[in-house]
Amino acid sequence: MAISDADMVIAWKNVLEQCNLRAGEQVAILMSDDSNMQIVNSARIAVGLLGGVLTLIHLPPINGDVALSRDKSGYVGKTPLAFNTAALAGLKAADMVIDTMQLLFSKEQEQILKTGTRMLLAVEPPETMLRMIPTPEAKAKVIAANRYMEPARQMTVTSKAGTDFRCGLGQYPVLMQYGLADEPGRWDHWPSCMIARWPDEGSAEGVIVIDEGDILLPFKHYARDRVSLTVEKGFVTEIRGGVTAEYMKAFMDSFDDPDAYAMAHVGWGLEQRASWTTLGLYDREAALSMDSRCFAGNFLFSTGPNTEAGGSRDTPCHLDIPLRGCSLSLDGVPMTVDGRVVA
Ligand SMILES: [Fe+2]
Repeated sequence: MAISDADMVIAWKNVLEQCNLRAGEQVAILMSDDSNMQIVNSARIAVGLLGGVLTLIHLPPINGDVALSRDKSGYVGKTPLAFNTAALAGLKAADMVIDTMQLLFSKEQEQILKTGTRMLLAVEPPETMLRMIPTPEAKAKVIAANRYMEPARQMTVTSKAGTDFRCGLGQYPVLMQYGLADEPGRWDHWPSCMIARWPDEGSAEGVIVIDEGDILLPFKHYARDRVSLTVEKGFVTEIRGGVTAEYMKAFMDSFDDPDAYAMAHVGWGLEQRASWTTLGLYDREAALSMDSRCFAGNFLFSTGPNTEAGGSRDTPCHLDIPLRGCSLSLDGVPMTVDGRVVA
């Protein structure tokens, strides 16, 4: 269902206030030909209402001819900023960037954040953004989870479907997503409520079983049958199963890049307002499906790049796979049990 422009402006004002936007701050809205114009226009008004100094940066899209889908997460890391030095300089000079184009996993995003610019990604459908407006409570939940994640040195994950996975932690920083870019140099994505971390290099080991009904992104499919992934020394070395396994493998192989098989972020969802079911209710091209990534109690694992964590693997092939029914522990302390978040 559509969202009114007025509601969208009110929501942006709320979120930008929570991002500590002050009058006189430089705000750049980054957009491209496929940006959602309701998101762009309502953000423009809200920035104006709060006294922000607004710049719009409109870049032409790239990757359309090499990506295998229109999904913004289907081909990551390569952006027009790699050769547009004027736009990059403008974004670095801003106090805050609202990204409606999706720079995620790019070297340029890391460069912008290092200058102290805070960045908020906003690419989901407006109704999804409104259903999951960031709140202080959601932020508190993620910060509470980080009290376990930050000091943890080992993550273990098991499930009745057969997952038996472990990895070391500590080499890479924690990714806390609560939908607010509220500190200098902080990146976030509205809507989000999840926590994750990249495994220490070479430490991820075991078996991950994707069960029937688990979600595969960016394919936006519910798995039709079980898939068993063998993980050795930080890489997926075998994918076994039926047609879902075959599809997954064919997609990953098409990048012709061994780094596509590296384990990337691992963590869990904390958003009660997100739903496992929405993927079945939306057109596949309508959304990235942050619902799937954030629904409470999922074990979200991923493959491919680690540039976002400061690593050097910049493969454009990135899969996010949220599993239900998993039990995830940090240094032996349960965070989720059978797919439910432990307090
Ligand atoms: Fe991801």
